[in-house]
Amino acid sequence: MMINKRLISTVKESKKYIAGNVIFQWCSLLANISMMAVITQLLGKIYMGTAQSGDIIFTGIGALLAIGIRFVCTYLSSKMGYLSSKAVKKTLREKIYSKLLRLGSAYSNDVKTSEVVQVAVEGVEQLETYFGAYLPQFFYSMIAPITLFVVLSFVNFPSALVLLVCVPLIPVAIAAVQTWAKKLLSKYWGQYTALGDTFLENLQGLTTLKVYQADERKQLEMNEEAEKFRKITMKVLTMQLNSITIMDLIAYGGAALGVIMAVTQFSAGHVGLGGCLLIILLAADFFIPMRLLGSFFHIAMNGMAACDKIFKLLDLEEDNTEKVKLENSGDIVCKNLSFSYEKDREILKGIDMSFKKGSFTAIVGESGCGKSTIASLLMGRNKGYSGSVKIGDTELSNIEEKSLMNTITYIGHNSYLFKGTVRENLLMGNPESDDKAMWEVLRKTNLESFLKSEKGLDTKLAEKASNLSGGQCQRLALARALLHNTPVYIFDEATSNIDVESENDIMEQIYCLAKTKTVILISHRLANVEDADNIYVLEDGKVSEMGNHQELLKKKGHYAKLWKSQRDLENLGGDAA
Ligand SMILES: Nc1ncnc2c1ncn2[C@@H]1O[C@H](COP(=O)(O)OP(=O)(O)O)[C@@H](O)[C@H]1O
Ligand SMILES: [Mg+2]
Repeated sequence: MMINKRLISTVKESKKYIAGNVIFQWCSLLANISMMAVITQLLGKIYMGTAQSGDIIFTGIGALLAIGIRFVCTYLSSKMGYLSSKAVKKTLREKIYSKLLRLGSAYSNDVKTSEVVQVAVEGVEQLETYFGAYLPQFFYSMIAPITLFVVLSFVNFPSALVLLVCVPLIPVAIAAVQTWAKKLLSKYWGQYTALGDTFLENLQGLTTLKVYQADERKQLEMNEEAEKFRKITMKVLTMQLNSITIMDLIAYGGAALGVIMAVTQFSAGHVGLGGCLLIILLAADFFIPMRLLGSFFHIAMNGMAACDKIFKLLDLEEDNTEKVKLENSGDIVCKNLSFSYEKDREILKGIDMSFKKGSFTAIVGESGCGKSTIASLLMGRNKGYSGSVKIGDTELSNIEEKSLMNTITYIGHNSYLFKGTVRENLLMGNPESDDKAMWEVLRKTNLESFLKSEKGLDTKLAEKASNLSGGQCQRLALARALLHNTPVYIFDEATSNIDVESENDIMEQIYCLAKTKTVILISHRLANVEDADNIYVLEDGKVSEMGNHQELLKKKGHYAKLWKSQRDLENLGGDAA
């Protein structure tokens, strides 16, 4: 069925606009019928030789009046269409937006960003035409033939009946097309989002592709996908064209049948010339609304496909448990914590860890052992863990997102800086900070002299801060994090891939923070964790060793081995230099 009740009840406002739209179209139809009636009556009288000058004036006035009414009605019905489109866009986008807010930062567990963008922009656009054009047409295309039938049955019943009976053939044809059109369209949409995905990814990674000279191969891949998309688009267009041809055949064939019937009745003397002409002139009007509905049908199909996607998004399960606010708490305890992104592949396998306020804890381990997974779990980005994670006395999954964000600050290896000024970026950390506070953190992160040589706090950053060096970016990100002033800080490889001076500056601030805050440092470089109060060594999702640097060295286990090999490597580098 091409009317989705849930969709309409989602946008309740649109009902009155749709009704208004239909009513004005109907009034316009009545005006048209009246105009045709007076004109054909006049023609009939002229034919009979009984026309008087009064008749002509009456017909002229009537026709003008009808034209005026039609003009106003057309304007009003398109205005209604516009109003309902507006209501639809506004309502649906608001719903999608607030849904995303409710899903919170974990939304990407369930949907892809590109899909959200497509649904919110294009999907909603599709529904705009669905509400503005298709739905009113749906009702009007039923009312119009019935109205015409009622009027014309007084003129000549058999002709009116023939016309009315032919009209339903159009929806029958549509239904026949629909069954396979639906499959085709869902394939089309799938192809479309897939292409969009690859395109976005390749565009974002273009520099990397160039570096590895993989751009050509990727281009070939994309060409292939684009070709697939072209083929399916052509199929969709062919389908649409064919179904339009079928509908035209039915519409004009039906009108022709009605006309033949009217002429036959006229020659048999069952209807006058005026009546016969009226039927001939209005025959096409039986079919035009339904025919138009047929061409809107594809809009409806697209709308339905988009609607499914929107509801899929709106129906994503939300975490409805009562959320609790956190009171300035810096102690974190994980007990038997397990987590997996996908079924049957556990990443964290029963981890026990604790992070104390005012302590400096490190998590080390080889790449892929699950360090970042722990960090995103703590940030509430990974839902559905088992075991327990308590911040203060509260279980992580019960903590309201906002207060979690006010408790933990995460600094990754490539922090996002926004296009704008340094001040704007710093204010994100804490909207209340004044210039003095900002310069203080900039001094701590050793950015003071650099920025003073530029335009100070008003120094402009390009998109993704591409006009700063990697080390400067990370130091600025740290400055912003310092302003945020939360009880817990997580540094996840925050000093990878940057220059040694910046790394030292950042490490110094981390030690300083650890005096008063809970600091969790994730690093694969063991030199950075030597001074930590406690070090967890992670191996394949499990804690294999723990203790401070000296204790771990004595154990002569995994940590000692890693440390030795890294030291040898760095000394080697030192010797060579
Ligand atoms: N979003 C994700 N979906 C599926 N698997 C993931 C995802 N993120 C990480 N993983 C997998 O989890 C494992 C641990 O990753 P991660 O915690 O990032 O390791 P690291 O210790 O290097 O930070 C890896 O095997 C990785 O493939
Ligand atoms: Mg990592």
